[in-house]
Amino acid sequence: MEDKFSWGVSTAAYQIEGAHNIHGKGASIWDVFANTPGKTHGNQHANVSCDFYHHYAQDIALMAQMNISNFRFSLSWSRIIPGGTGAVNPDGIDFYNKVIDFCLDLGIEPWVTLYHWDLPYSLELKGGWTNREIINWFTVYVQLCLKLFGDRVKHWMILNEPMVFTGAGYFMGIHAPGRKGLTSFLAAAHHAALCQAEGTRAARAIRSDATIGTTFSCSLIEPYTSSDNDQYAATKLDALANRMFVEPLVGKSYPVKDFKLLNRLENFVKDGDEAKLAANVDFIGIQNYTREKVTHSYMVPLLWAKVVKASKRSVDHTLMDWEVYPPAIHSMLHQFSSYGKPLIVTENGAAFNDIILNNAVHDHQRQQYLQMHIEQVLKAKQEGVDVRGYFVWTLLDNFEWAEGYRPRFGLVHVDFKTQKRVIKYSGHWYANFLQSHGESALQLSRTA
Ligand code: GAL
Repeated sequence: MEDKFSWGVSTAAYQIEGAHNIHGKGASIWDVFANTPGKTHGNQHANVSCDFYHHYAQDIALMAQMNISNFRFSLSWSRIIPGGTGAVNPDGIDFYNKVIDFCLDLGIEPWVTLYHWDLPYSLELKGGWTNREIINWFTVYVQLCLKLFGDRVKHWMILNEPMVFTGAGYFMGIHAPGRKGLTSFLAAAHHAALCQAEGTRAARAIRSDATIGTTFSCSLIEPYTSSDNDQYAATKLDALANRMFVEPLVGKSYPVKDFKLLNRLENFVKDGDEAKLAANVDFIGIQNYTREKVTHSYMVPLLWAKVVKASKRSVDHTLMDWEVYPPAIHSMLHQFSSYGKPLIVTENGAAFNDIILNNAVHDHQRQQYLQMHIEQVLKAKQEGVDVRGYFVWTLLDNFEWAEGYRPRFGLVHVDFKTQKRVIKYSGHWYANFLQSHGESALQLSRTA
């Protein structure tokens, strides 16, 4: 992949698009989950959200105005193939063609995620990620997308954070599709791990000129105390949260040695899977927001460990109760650099209570958060970590999954009643940074 450093912003289809049931779109698991009472904060859903579907031209123009030259967004599978398999939806394809073409017209590089959590609901009715058939469903979808858009989209990501969508969606039941239990989690996880590799191969077979990666959530995991029990808890959580999906992809298989429970994945492994789990990605996307302190606990079955929340530790934290700890991203870049692939920070950002005065949004905490994290990324780069990009989560305030609209992560404020956009202080700062310091800071790191 190219050497240059890419600065950008990240988004996801379900969180911004709205237009949930028009122009031929099929329902996704998130449409169904969020419209089921009791599942999200205040029963909120993203039926409309920022209505990017109707405002894409304005929003892409806004990005150009902010000097943002790389835009990461995801494709909604059920907008393209409403039933998950079978007939395609020409209006859905037309929408993404317009988004891609308008980006390119304005000099913005599209970076496309193929799956950011919104599985077609009809596939969930057949078992969703727990059904091994998903490898075929997903491969056909990937091939179609690469054929449709691969002439213009050069950067692809196969999955967004498999640990989160399988853990929250199939083990804890707090995300769509809301299933609970170890068995559904392990099945979903193994199939997602196979799909990230098969999806990579399928995409490459269609477009050998594409740059292909996939993304992982990661947090710096540290023991709460120096006790042996807490250290053991931290090793287990690191294996589960940071290593479980990336290691099989790079040919190291699941980290069962450090978290024995993962042995039970065996129940879903078929002959030949070990080799199929590995794939040759061009880059690894890492998505870091925080550090977690973990302690041994008899209250959490299976893991026997629990995270001590930032608010309980009296440390600086965001609205999500995530500690603000910029060295975490530096550590994670070093940790993931051991896999020998170029890295891209495909998400980093923060939710705070924004102060709005005279039509201006004074989000100084977000600006500081971003600056401190970018400094840590550049520090890792200077130390020799092969990091080639940084994407802010996110462009627009949007639907934050089970948390609804309360946590705002955007560089741009959205009034969800009027759909009015206002660039926040942090957005102006990022725009200025991209115009000047972004480049010079990097030149510094190149000559160091
Ligand atoms: C990531 C996810 C995004 C966004 C972000 C902030 O885990 O990929 O969709 O919600 O967290 O919570």
